[in-house]
Amino acid sequence: MAFVELEQRGHVGLITINRPEVLNALNIQILRELDQILDQVESNEDIFVLVLTGAGRSFVAGADISEMANFSASDAKTFSHHGSNVLLRMTRFPRPIIAAVNGYALGGGCELAMGCDIRIGSDKAKFGMPEVGLGITPGFGGTQRLARIVGMSTATELVLTSRIIDAQEALQIGLINHLYPADEMLDRAVALANVIASKPQVAVRQSKQAIRIGTQIDISSAIAFESEAFGLCFSTEDQKDAMRAFLNKEKMTAFKNR
Ligand code: COA
Repeated sequence: MAFVELEQRGHVGLITINRPEVLNALNIQILRELDQILDQVESNEDIFVLVLTGAGRSFVAGADISEMANFSASDAKTFSHHGSNVLLRMTRFPRPIIAAVNGYALGGGCELAMGCDIRIGSDKAKFGMPEVGLGITPGFGGTQRLARIVGMSTATELVLTSRIIDAQEALQIGLINHLYPADEMLDRAVALANVIASKPQVAVRQSKQAIRIGTQIDISSAIAFESEAFGLCFSTEDQKDAMRAFLNKEKMTAFKNR
C-alpha cells in the first residue's frame, strides 16, 4: 500500500498513516487503504487490538485540501459518504482501536481519532475542526462524534470558531484519555493495547459493542443489548476458567478467547 502500513506486534496491530510530506492529509487513496487494512485485520484472528498513528510530526492534518478544492457538491457528498463509512466501520469494528495522536489531528484527522474507541495524545498533539474556516462543515461525522465525546456546548464552540487546542486542553475536555511526552506516547499506546489484548476477547468485544450501541439507542434497548452480551459471555470457556480461578484463589495467566 502507498500510504497506510500495518505492523503486527504480538496481538497488537499498529496502523501508521504515512504521507508525512503533506502531514498525512487524507485523500481518497488513504481512505481506501484504511478500509483494506481493516479487511486484513478482520481475517487475522491473531490481532486483538489496533493502534492508529501518523508518521512524522502529524497524526492527520485533515482531509486533503488540494484534492477537495475543486470538488462539485456531488463529489463532496460522495467523499463524505466514503470517509464516513470507513469511520463507521472503525466504530463498529469488533476489535478495539486506540488513536495514538502524535501531532496535528485537524478536521478529518480529529474525526479519524474520534472514530477510534480510545484516544491518547503526545504533548505535541494539536486538535481542531478548521472546516468552517474553509467554508465547509465537518464531513466525516465530526459534528456528531465531537458533541458526544466533549458535550454539545464545547463541540459547538470548537466547530464554529475553528480554534485549535493543545493536548493539555484536549485532556481537560475529555477528547483524549491520557497525555504523554512525545517520545513515550506510542509505547504507552501499545502498552494500553497489550493490557486490553491480555483480557478475554469475547468479553472485550461484547463490551465495546455494548458501550457503542448505548450511545445510539434508547437506554432500555441498550440495557437489553447488554443483557444479551452478558448472557453470551457465560457460554465461553474464559468465563468458566476465570471464575473458577478466582474461587480457587488462583491467578489466570492466559485466556483461550473462546
Ligand atoms: N491538505 C493538503 N495539504 C496539506 C494539509 C491538508 N489538510 N495540511 C497540510 N498540508 C500540506 C501543506 O500544504 C504543506 O505542503 P507544501 O510543503 O507542499 O506547501 C505541507 O503539508 C506542510 O504543511 P505546512 O502548512 O507548511 O506546515 P505548518 O507547520 O506551517 O502548518 C498546519 C501546519 C497543520 C497548521 C497547516 O498545514 C494547516 O493548517 N493545514 C490544514 C489544516 C486543515 O485545515 N485541515 C482541515 C481540512 S478540512
